[in-house]
Amino acid sequence: MKTILLSISALMISAAGVAAADDPIAVRKALMQATAASAATSGGMMKGDIAYNPAVAKAAIATLNAVSHAYGDFFPEGLSGENSTASPNIWEDTDAWQQALSKFQIDTQAAVEVSGKDGPADLASFQAVIGPVLSNCRSCHENFRVQTN
Ligand code: HEC
Repeated sequence: MKTILLSISALMISAAGVAAADDPIAVRKALMQATAASAATSGGMMKGDIAYNPAVAKAAIATLNAVSHAYGDFFPEGLSGENSTASPNIWEDTDAWQQALSKFQIDTQAAVEVSGKDGPADLASFQAVIGPVLSNCRSCHENFRVQTN
């Protein structure tokens, strides 16, 4: 189970790497879709809709951490457009954008550390580290995504 989940996230990240050269928008969307899937799984375990499983928690954390490091590479100067909700703020306020990326990296890294070899031991320790990670979604979107609704 653990191996399968971890290789799925590794696959998503490396598939993203392959497509990178031609279509950074498609890649960054794919990375956010992987992020959303991990966030949904995490949220499900936090709410008790999905039974807590340390290996699944570890896979979600690993994906979020990998995305936090890869994500910033897919924003070449000014590249947005009809099929993107990336805000011009990304290129107008690069310091704040870098800070948002680096906060996401720091919070996911703290989760990786608690994850250890077999995943966070119990739901409480998972919640303690995933809560801060998930708060990045809204704060970054508020500043760096064009709201479409
Ligand atoms: C560092 C900033 C940042 C963080 C952190 C972040 N996002 Fe995003 N997200 C973006 C940007 C920018 C876009 C728009 C990208 C585009 O359309 O080109 C986006 C788009 C998305 C999309 C739409 C993807 C698509 O197919 O159009 C989803 C879903 C998403 N994010 C989910 C999440 C979730 C869930 C989290 C938290 C676990 C998260 N994001 C954290 C910046 C961020």
